[in-house]
Amino acid sequence: MNNILNKNINVLGIETTCDETAAAIVSLNEKGESNLLSNIVHSQYNEHSKFGGIVPEVAARSHLKNISFIVAEAIKQANISNEEVNAVSVSCGPGLIGGLLVGSMFGKAYSLSKSIPFIPINHLEAHILSPRLFQNIDFPYLALLVSGGHTQLLYVEDLDKIRRIGTTLDDSVGEAFDKASIILDLGWPGGKNIEKAAENGDPQSYNLPRPMIKRNNADFSLSGLKTALFRIAEKETLNKKVKSNLAASFQSAATDVIEDRCLNAFKIIKKINNNCKNFVVVGGVAANKVIRKRLTNLSKMKNFSPYFPPVEICTDNGAMIAWNGIEKILKYGISNINDPDFEPRTRWPLDPMAKPIRNAKEPR
Ligand code: KG4
Ligand code: ZN
Repeated sequence: MNNILNKNINVLGIETTCDETAAAIVSLNEKGESNLLSNIVHSQYNEHSKFGGIVPEVAARSHLKNISFIVAEAIKQANISNEEVNAVSVSCGPGLIGGLLVGSMFGKAYSLSKSIPFIPINHLEAHILSPRLFQNIDFPYLALLVSGGHTQLLYVEDLDKIRRIGTTLDDSVGEAFDKASIILDLGWPGGKNIEKAAENGDPQSYNLPRPMIKRNNADFSLSGLKTALFRIAEKETLNKKVKSNLAASFQSAATDVIEDRCLNAFKIIKKINNNCKNFVVVGGVAANKVIRKRLTNLSKMKNFSPYFPPVEICTDNGAMIAWNGIEKILKYGISNINDPDFEPRTRWPLDPMAKPIRNAKEPR
């Protein structure tokens, strides 16, 4: 493998864990400055929406159909040639096995054909590191990961050194938004649609529960909120006004829960490391403007500096996968991170010491 640390490097990132086929090029120059050169995302919304959720077989076939085109487009838009790609980072889990196989086999073939390193990436870690592609954020920090598959609060001490301090006992926040959207007949995936409908609604029009609030930990539970919404929606005529009011009430309840859980996480973090002052919020739900605003205000009140990735980097993308590859190159060296034998993992907890949660759908 060539030693390329003393020159500009370009890393190709590939993402296929769920329902986005994505690829991006991130460059790093000799001064250590990074630059997002391209970011191509093909979302499979249209392929899955008629089923009201992701169908793994459909997702795998769609990844297979699109991956070469998406990667070629990322290289073209970055205005570089295949020969100028110095490493390939691939999201190797956690996720759906069909997509993981497509992404990792494509990445391994690409790396072999160009004699460049293959870097396996944990999709969750990529979300958590993603704001560092755009801003200088020092470790350690508290991270709130709120996506469709995961809801976790984590103490991020360093790259590959992460401790879970809170998780969901049942649904993830993104899943709760998606289910609320289906209940209100607003379509799928739901986060964006709930946020839009809520803009014209009154958040106090319906009294919904705030599960876990005031509990002395940083865990979440959201299935009760979804069920309460369902019970009310069953009795209502779902016209535009009612949908907006229910969406606003749901979003407000979910945000209250997130806020309360983060308040406890701030306290827990201070006990672990009193010097920890940074707070990053990542994952698809971090795109929500109301949640961004409320968490910005909350962290400022509690003397934490809040950071969010740009909205388009909150949902799944290749940029965060390429960036995680660069973080690994910088920490371990380009000649130490090639791992072509890595097997994709449907489960890949960030904190291997964290206890499994009974009834939780997400892997630890
Ligand atoms: O990070 P992501 O793309 O995929 C996973 O890794 O799971 O997150 C997708 C989730 C979906 O549940 C989607 O409804 C939610 O993020 N989401 C939102 C918003 N945009 C996406 N939730 C609330 N408000 C949004 N604006
Ligand atoms: Zn994700």
